[in-house]
Amino acid sequence: MSKLDFSTVINRRGTDSYKWDAADREVGNTETIQMGCADMDFKSPPEIIEELHKVVEHGIFGYATLTQQYAPGIVSWYKERHNCELKAEWILYVPRIVVACSVLVNTFTQKGDKVILNSPYYPPLNDVTSGCYREVICPALVEKDGRYVMDLEALEKQIDASTKLMILVSPHNPTTRIWTREELQAIADFCVKHDLLLFVDEIHSDFAAKGQTFISMADIQGPIQDRLVVVNAPAKSFNVMGCAMSYLIVPNAEVRKRLEKALDAAGETDANDFGNAVMRVAYQKCGYYVDEVNAYIDDNDAYLRAELPKLFPQVVVKPREGTYLLWVDFTKVFPNEEVLHDFFTNKAKVNVLMGSHFGPNFDGFVRINMGCPRATLEEVMRRLTSAWQQCQSSVQN
Ligand SMILES: Cc1ncc(COP(=O)(O)O)c(C=O)c1O
Repeated sequence: MSKLDFSTVINRRGTDSYKWDAADREVGNTETIQMGCADMDFKSPPEIIEELHKVVEHGIFGYATLTQQYAPGIVSWYKERHNCELKAEWILYVPRIVVACSVLVNTFTQKGDKVILNSPYYPPLNDVTSGCYREVICPALVEKDGRYVMDLEALEKQIDASTKLMILVSPHNPTTRIWTREELQAIADFCVKHDLLLFVDEIHSDFAAKGQTFISMADIQGPIQDRLVVVNAPAKSFNVMGCAMSYLIVPNAEVRKRLEKALDAAGETDANDFGNAVMRVAYQKCGYYVDEVNAYIDDNDAYLRAELPKLFPQVVVKPREGTYLLWVDFTKVFPNEEVLHDFFTNKAKVNVLMGSHFGPNFDGFVRINMGCPRATLEEVMRRLTSAWQQCQSSVQN
């Protein structure tokens, strides 16, 4: 019997939620369904809530030292869930992924160097890299046989000796791609050939649509291991982003030493009580939660995939491989992104992220966050239907 309830709608307004409260302020009302920021409207596993309760009941929130269960938990999770062997000494603590990206960019590249980040991209990775005065090269993923792929031949022509780093998001946000072993190997070979450091953000690794299997870049053997930095967190998997707890996997000792020193220099050394509580139980006891949430997301996906084309026959709902996101092409439905945005945000009062948010080339797309109860999606469909009917009747009149 399932211990979990993903169908109850929980009001998150008034909790200083980025997804709900900050977005409400942005749109100027509290009636909008907020589906922008990628956290889920589900409670975390009961084991994590209980462990956090223990911390709160203790009542002293002093300086923390990283829990002893941190590295062993990560090693066993990667082995059991992803069939990937890590060594405990490869693991470094970092509070957040975007912090790790910033420290890495500052440590391994110089001002003016070029960094590769495919578009569409998760914007903070672009923001911190360009914020460090590096030039971000954003080759667009291209569609081949209905899947987004990296065009490494075209990329080869765009890089030069000042290109030092590639940032890869795996599985990919927002296209949801789960890169195959062959693709990962090709990316690894490219980085070795062009003397690039490879930073791989695996934060979405625990979400795979039915029939899909995530492969970690840490499982790709050979010379890439000496120029590889993987970053991950329990954040998405257990919906615990607010606990600020992540980790780096760095197989090469020299790279690791430099990164460790840089993290020390940035003052990013202290764990926190709440992140520690997560790391004591999430990877040890909560695998079943990830299985159940994936099954719920698969059902949400099937629902939207059936309903959206009934309303908009020209919409293209892209295949989903991983994540709890849906990447949807509305370019044939609305004349431009301004009209698309106005339809969703002002007419339907459904706030989703527009394609332009993810860099160049994807205006007219939207990213829908399906990490919510089915009832929320049904309400979304009701609102879209009614707003669409009003648009159609105003065109006819
Ligand atoms: C690809 C990716 N990386 C990183 C993050 C967030 O990481 P953090 O909050 O630890 O910086 C997200 C959140 O949506 C994400 O999608």
